[in-house]
Amino acid sequence: MTLLFIVAISSLVHIGSGMPLRETKLSVFLHNFQSGPNATVAVVAGVAGKKWSFIEFGSLIVTDNPVTETSNIKSTPVGRAQGMYATAGLDGINSQVMLTLVFSNKKYDGSTLEIQGISKQFDKIRELSVISGTGKFRYARGFATFETFFVANPPNYSVVRLNVTVQYPFTWTHV
Ligand SMILES: *[C@@H]1O[C@H](CO)[C@@H](O)[C@H](O)[C@H]1NC(C)=O
Ligand SMILES: *[C@@H]1O[C@H](CO)[C@@H](O)[C@H](O)[C@H]1NC(C)=O
Repeated sequence: MTLLFIVAISSLVHIGSGMPLRETKLSVFLHNFQSGPNATVAVVAGVAGKKWSFIEFGSLIVTDNPVTETSNIKSTPVGRAQGMYATAGLDGINSQVMLTLVFSNKKYDGSTLEIQGISKQFDKIRELSVISGTGKFRYARGFATFETFFVANPPNYSVVRLNVTVQYPFTWTHV
């Protein structure tokens, strides 16, 4: 099944004998502007005397990245990816991510998904947990993969494909 260009696929799943869960798969694109007047990422802190950067242990990065339906920044907006990345591996490889997907599209406007975990920054595909959500995604759990889709040269702009699978209790507000 291809998820490309499809914002959301939802289905009902039953786990054990508990209440029915709705499963939603999202495939969206996150845009990272690293520099310039419209930068969406800022390195805000680090270890004194070291270069603050995403590959230096102790660096803290805050982002507010636009999220869209396709890899084209001009495609339909889905929301924003707002959060923090802390380079938590002494070797500068692992980054601890706390990221909220703040939806503004028609279907999920006002809802959020909470992504958290270690991102192995140099892996082709990074898998993180989805630990909860709000609005339509209350009590959500699942996982998200991050895959670098495009890097500009010079590397001041990049696009990341985000595939999210979450399960959450079905309620009539979802209909
Ligand atoms: C920054 O954003 C403004 C307003 O959206 C836009 O007019 C301008 O072209 C952008 N600048 C760059 C370098 O992307
Ligand atoms: C990236 O840098 C190039 C060359 O300096 C510049 O033309 C381009 O507008 C920059 N892109 C962004 C998104 O800042």
